[in-house]
Amino acid sequence: MSEQKELSSPAMRKSADPAIMIIFGASGDLTRRKLVPSLYSLTLGKLMPEQFHVLGVARSQLTDEQFAESLKEGMAQFGRHKPRDLWPSFSKRLSYLSGGYDDPETYRRLAEKLDQIDTEMGLTCNRLFYLAIPPTLYGEVIERLGEVGLNHTDGGWSRIIIEKPFGRDLKSAHELNELTHKHFAESQVYRIDHYLGKETVQNILTFRFANSIFEPLWNRNYVDNVQISVLESVGVGHRGGYYDQSGVLRDMFQNHLLQLLSLVAMEAPASFDADALRNEKVKALSAVRLLSPEEVLDHLVVGQYEGYLDIPEVEDGSRTPTYAALSLYLDNWRWQGVPFYLRSGKGLKEKMTEIVIGFKSPPHVMFPLQVGEQIHPNVISMCIQPDEGIHLRFEAKVPDTQADMRSVDMDFHYKESFGEVMIPEAYERLLMNAINGDAALFTRADGIEAAWRIVDPLLQVCESGRIPTAKYKKGSWGPVEADELMAREGRAWQFGCMHS
Ligand code: BG6
Repeated sequence: MSEQKELSSPAMRKSADPAIMIIFGASGDLTRRKLVPSLYSLTLGKLMPEQFHVLGVARSQLTDEQFAESLKEGMAQFGRHKPRDLWPSFSKRLSYLSGGYDDPETYRRLAEKLDQIDTEMGLTCNRLFYLAIPPTLYGEVIERLGEVGLNHTDGGWSRIIIEKPFGRDLKSAHELNELTHKHFAESQVYRIDHYLGKETVQNILTFRFANSIFEPLWNRNYVDNVQISVLESVGVGHRGGYYDQSGVLRDMFQNHLLQLLSLVAMEAPASFDADALRNEKVKALSAVRLLSPEEVLDHLVVGQYEGYLDIPEVEDGSRTPTYAALSLYLDNWRWQGVPFYLRSGKGLKEKMTEIVIGFKSPPHVMFPLQVGEQIHPNVISMCIQPDEGIHLRFEAKVPDTQADMRSVDMDFHYKESFGEVMIPEAYERLLMNAINGDAALFTRADGIEAAWRIVDPLLQVCESGRIPTAKYKKGSWGPVEADELMAREGRAWQFGCMHS
């Protein structure tokens, strides 16, 4: 099969503006694993314009050729598409600039180099900066870009993508927003959360708002509880240093889990416009009831997998949680009284991300049930990954019985309906959207702060040592305390996507 035919991603039809993408942190993992492989896939899919250039910036001393070679190796190892026929022409679009992030000289040379590339390629000065560097350097790079005037261009656009984590808590996120806004208008800023680039995450809105049969039930009158699980089998791996300073609440809850929550809980926006959408998401997050320290003790369970302390760069005796389970409530008309249960952890039995909407039981059961027998409430499970799809569980009569019933599933699987290759990498969609100036799938300044406002009280209680860090075995489903949290409320964690 030719390299071109292998790719089929008509979902992203719009071709991008001619532009230069400047990656800070170009010799790092993200660039090799995600960014450049995504640009390659987009190029294969003919979604990138002829005039597109990638300029890597990092401290390592590399020539353009060495830079391209290291990216090629990364792609061979991690890319959805291996570097084949298209690589020679693609690699001509790559160049490299080495320099310290705190050195004004780097930025002077960068500005010169960008002008030179623009002139050589006849580009219109569209620039997309990507911060794939450690978060402690974000402020420095943003300031320096502003100082040399790279925060705007004459006749083109200048945008900046900022990786997560955006801040360590509400205060630092707010300060970073302020510093960013000193140099870039909010419309130029793209705070990335790769979960929003996932097809299945975008489909939450389609499922809710392109169908009329679900939305009337999507509220406190019919929904008993909502569960959002982002479970990972991998451990912390080689990221001990970063992870030990972050933990699961910063690494997963503040961003991915709360983004999922906002998509499930939000009201229907009037349009698909970035701000209309983000306004509703922020409203949903702002409706989350903030927990007092006492309430945190009742609503949060944190755990750490056995063996975590042996990981390089993890502090001796660290209590950093690799798992957390949390119950939250939203104070608004739609969701009053409906618990949202969130859990995420590493080192678990399987990788699985799902959102389970558990409905209330029928108000009256006319069927003869055995003693202790109950009707299973209906469940909608949105399977974000790995077996992407949606399941609706309902009761059916067992044939040839008087009134016995059993739960059955109505399933939608992406692979069956659309074919395997139809799901693009999250970063492909997000890069494409940033180049096209569509910020709908990026987090706005107020959205980031609304999420930190929810997580801050949890962090404070955890970091004060008031909450015990439960231990759990690697390869289990997490600490028993998380099951007890549910059992106290007469519920259990659901695995809505596992049984088929
Ligand atoms: C990242 C976290 O944002 O998301 C990682 O930093 C985590 O710790 C990853 O493993 C999970 O992403 P995905 O797409 O594999 O679910």
